[in-house]
Amino acid sequence: MNPANEYPSADGLWTGLRLATDAGVEAAIAVTDGMIRWVGARDALPAEFASLVPHDGGGALVTPGLVDCHTHLVYGGQRANEFAMRLAGATYEEVAKAGGGIVSSVRATREADEDTLFAEAAPRLAQLLADGVCAIEIKSGYGLSLEHERKQLRVARRLGDAYGVTVRTTFLGAHALPPEYAGRSGDYIDLVCDQMLPALAAEGLVDAVDVFCERIAFSLEETEQVFKAAKALGLPVKLHAEQLSDMGGAALAARYGALSCDHIEHLSAEGIEAMRQSGTVAVLLPGAYYTLRDTHLPPIEALRAAGVPMAVSTDHNPGTSPALSLLLMMNMACTLFRLTVPEALAGVTVHAARALGLSSTHGVIAEGMPANFVLWNVRDAAELAYWFGQRPVRSVVRRGRIAVGAAV
Ligand code: NIG
Ligand code: FE
Repeated sequence: MNPANEYPSADGLWTGLRLATDAGVEAAIAVTDGMIRWVGARDALPAEFASLVPHDGGGALVTPGLVDCHTHLVYGGQRANEFAMRLAGATYEEVAKAGGGIVSSVRATREADEDTLFAEAAPRLAQLLADGVCAIEIKSGYGLSLEHERKQLRVARRLGDAYGVTVRTTFLGAHALPPEYAGRSGDYIDLVCDQMLPALAAEGLVDAVDVFCERIAFSLEETEQVFKAAKALGLPVKLHAEQLSDMGGAALAARYGALSCDHIEHLSAEGIEAMRQSGTVAVLLPGAYYTLRDTHLPPIEALRAAGVPMAVSTDHNPGTSPALSLLLMMNMACTLFRLTVPEALAGVTVHAARALGLSSTHGVIAEGMPANFVLWNVRDAAELAYWFGQRPVRSVVRRGRIAVGAAV
């Protein structure tokens, strides 16, 4: 299956557009060889682009292609049973301690072969793409052995090829302690650092390295050991930080120049200052906050005051955020976290791209970048965050191809 083969070229002159930043003026985008050659007010179009094949945007609002910068999209099975347990009063930590949680997805992922994992993840990816996603991060972390982490990462790469979407793979071998290492956390982290990570990096399967730093996962010292191994291989790091408690993970990650710190409900003032200094992106995950019925808000006002870039992502995973709409996450980021609409839009575009090290190719509509943009059937950019359960996509141009919507 390779749907990307079917997408028509987006080369040509796109007119009848309104930029979210300047919606009062008709805008145009010139695309050749899949690259944006020019963007601006239609009136100012250079003559050299006037004869390109026309694409009529019909007055649509245009934004950069969306970027989902934190997902655990590839896994076996699902965990609706835990949803029921939590409805009956159990907490996430209690579910994990009862043998559920991440480890139950590890069992199902290990049992599934590569084709099965691909077939299960593909419709989930298709849902996200239908919302205008043009780049996505996919983490491992449900294999927890070389063989099974490799399987997850290979499926992530295959999904990118099949759907013509930019996939950044993140190795999250330090997601949970696999049952066969019970009581031997140090031995498992040695395995992650000395064997799994170098082997998978050598196979070209790792774009970044992540750790779940938490009471129910790995300590600060173990996190640093993984970061050192990543740095030795020249790989960027990111962190599941301060989700359930303040472990000091964000400050550590910032010392290692982390691309992002994610969740961060319990982020301290020191953590914010360290992130500001290192230029680390704060990734907000309102889907997990909502699912866990968390009440401890991330320190949005302090992040804003410090000028730390805030991204918004689905955190798609079978336990804490079975979310398949980045637009819905924009809505939740506004409603639950009080982001403004422009902040939420920047959170799923320019800042999300930065959280993946993709600033030079994604997140903005600019000359010299690959053509990744979305046409929306809305009057006002606020509608992208206002509706929920609505999908106002008119067309998605992804990697220079019209991936969603009729050719116009
Ligand atoms: O991002 N926080 C840790 N990892 C995931 C949850 C994974 C799971 O429960 O399966 C998260 O929320
Ligand atoms: Fe996560």
